[in-house]
Amino acid sequence: MMATTGRGPLLEVVDLKTYYRTRRGVARAVDGVSFTLAQGQHLGLIGESGSGKTTTGRAIIRVLPRNAEIVGGQILFKGRDLARLPERDMRDLRWREIAMVPQASMGSLDPVYRLGDQMLEVLVNRGGYERSAARDRSKELFGLVGLDAARLDNYPHEFSGGMRQRAVIAMALALDPALIIADEPVTALDVIVQAQVLETLRKLQERLSVSVIMITHDISVVAQTCDSVAVMYAGKIVEQGSVRHIFSAPYHPYTLGLENAYPNLAKPKDTLISIEGFPPDLVDPPEGCRFAARCPFAMEVCLREEPPLVEVASGHFVACHQTDKVDYLRIKSREAETWQRVAPV
Ligand SMILES: Nc1ncnc2c1ncn2[C@@H]1O[C@H](COP(=O)(O)OP(=O)(O)O)[C@@H](O)[C@H]1O
Ligand code: SF4
Ligand SMILES: [Mg+2]
Repeated sequence: MMATTGRGPLLEVVDLKTYYRTRRGVARAVDGVSFTLAQGQHLGLIGESGSGKTTTGRAIIRVLPRNAEIVGGQILFKGRDLARLPERDMRDLRWREIAMVPQASMGSLDPVYRLGDQMLEVLVNRGGYERSAARDRSKELFGLVGLDAARLDNYPHEFSGGMRQRAVIAMALALDPALIIADEPVTALDVIVQAQVLETLRKLQERLSVSVIMITHDISVVAQTCDSVAVMYAGKIVEQGSVRHIFSAPYHPYTLGLENAYPNLAKPKDTLISIEGFPPDLVDPPEGCRFAARCPFAMEVCLREEPPLVEVASGHFVACHQTDKVDYLRIKSREAETWQRVAPV
């Protein structure tokens, strides 16, 4: 295993498996996910709804629903395996070392307490701050996310959605964690407010050395805030690499499809092409490539053999049997009819 001192990765997730017990059987929501995160790195975890992004994030900080279990793999954070850490030690680590920004909603703040009191709670009870130092720190944190310190006396309902989400980000930063896991932090906000909150996040990332896992279904969020990307599909990472690699030279048909499906400056909305069909049932996933049923390029081998993640360029990994035909895949994937011809398998 890699060295854990010096400049080794901050986080190394190795073959992580996190399953849910359901009435229909075991849902293999995260099924062998591996990635590393360096200090200060900002990784975007993207994929459609249900691909396992939230489960991955919550497994790392170990706040999973009762029917979920980490059944395999390692989560090496500063050299300690969080998958096996006693809950008591994990509690020490949350907020101080790893903080979570949940999906923009009223739900992540307590409606009956003033923002300032909720911030104090974190600083005093979790961080061991004296009350007066905690008050100063609260003001500093609000300033950091562009909120007026006078607002600390407000209740959550007196905030707009964008302000609430800034407050939640300020709280996550309270104890100066090494890692922030942000789960769809702007999804519930309207577009203009989204842009403002993303800009705040981007500036923070420039100023602080905090590492970020940015969970989102929206490719444009990744483009604005991340330096690397992992694309998830049906519980697995199908492609990962630097933002530059993934956006300018994608390989995996699913990534190619995703990039078609999202608007950007160069591509007006009316040229968007969606990927037909649905992800597989994770209680009974297909044997070979999990994307095969929706992939316009699926071959016989794709149904039989699971494609391993292989390195196609430095730090750029892809799990597809047809990486050698990438030029053809890129040309074809730009044509709308390619995606309409997917034969059910
Ligand atoms: N509470 C739950 N109980 C049972 N299965 C769940 C639960 N939450 C998620 N799952 C399963 O895990 C899969 C991944 O969910 P999730 O991690 O929330 O995906 P994402 O964040 O990418 O939308 C879902 O498709 C579903 O099959
Ligand atoms: S392995 Fe086959 S089915 Fe899967 S993405 Fe590649 S070409 Fe498509
Ligand atoms: Mg989610």
